[in-house]
Amino acid sequence: MKINGKHTRSIWAVGEDAFGIFDQTRLPHEVVTLTIRTPEDAAHAIKSMQTRGAPLIGAVGAYGLALAVRNDPSDDAIQHMVEMLAETRPTAINLKWALWRMRGLLLNQPRDKRAALAWAEAAAIADEDAAMCEAIGRNGLEIIRDLHRKKGGKLNILTHCNAGWLATVDWGTALAPIYMAHDEGIPLHVFVDETRPRNQGASLTAFELGAHGVAHTIIADNAGGHYMMNGDVDMCVVGTDRVTANGDVANKIGTYLKALAAKDNGVPFYVALPSSTIDWTLSSGRDIPIEERSADEVLKMTGRTPSGSVLTVEIAAPGSPAANPGFDVTPARLVTGFITERGTCAATEQGLRSLFPAA
Ligand code: MRU
Repeated sequence: MKINGKHTRSIWAVGEDAFGIFDQTRLPHEVVTLTIRTPEDAAHAIKSMQTRGAPLIGAVGAYGLALAVRNDPSDDAIQHMVEMLAETRPTAINLKWALWRMRGLLLNQPRDKRAALAWAEAAAIADEDAAMCEAIGRNGLEIIRDLHRKKGGKLNILTHCNAGWLATVDWGTALAPIYMAHDEGIPLHVFVDETRPRNQGASLTAFELGAHGVAHTIIADNAGGHYMMNGDVDMCVVGTDRVTANGDVANKIGTYLKALAAKDNGVPFYVALPSSTIDWTLSSGRDIPIEERSADEVLKMTGRTPSGSVLTVEIAAPGSPAANPGFDVTPARLVTGFITERGTCAATEQGLRSLFPAA
């Protein structure tokens, strides 16, 4: 995707002993990059959400582990670092998927080869993520083309949170088909849920869509049901942090309510994901650990003042407590279909296994 007209990924190697990311906590007001040189800095970036989005934190975790292996390639150190990085965010499975893949490879190799292998494997994970997201884009594009053939005119697509290139290595999951449809001239407009409490929609999705020239409108999270009921939404598409074997979907808090409204109004509700987001070990979404985040995210807001400085202010009654589950689970029955790198399928175990029989 493009920043200031220049193609860039969301993560890049800096030599062989550091890697770069965008500091997403500074967007959309400032485009700031960070150079990560230690596994501890990688863990901090994930935990503090300087970097975020399920597929991207998988790649950041992999590079973070690769940095650790340069210092100490022993079995104990690798095991310790995998655990340290894995616990930074509990819900998105891509982080563990990437770390376990790295560990599985490294522990079977001689110690003197581990550093180079770890770096190459982290790069492979990043490259594969970009390729999977591009394929998701092509497969989702078929759905958008079909909808456009049937309906004609401008399509209105609703999305929640940020499942664009900032949440992945490139392209995005939910946004990849939107970028491709826009690029081939299908007229479309995106309703962007602001996505309280961290506002990934208003801050990040709107930033991305704007940079790519895609027409969009930011809406309060509570407005989507109203637009769906009025016939203003042709399709919803979201990303996901973990899909269980039965097709249940964990995604940013508020996704479930959108899926309910979509079902009630006959609006197709798609979930776009790379196969690294499928957790075959869990048979139901009820077993997904849901991250409880700081109450401050609910009680405070950060924004730019007219003078240009960025300020955090309290928005709630002083002293009131807040709860802040970061994700919810949308039952498979509310999902019209999955868009994956291998094609689209029903949101069922059978559907997933038809695309990934060897899993
Ligand atoms: O808490 P975040 O911002 O890391 O949330 C993850 C997400 O970006 C979303 O839930 C997204 O829809 C899935 S990741 C493509």
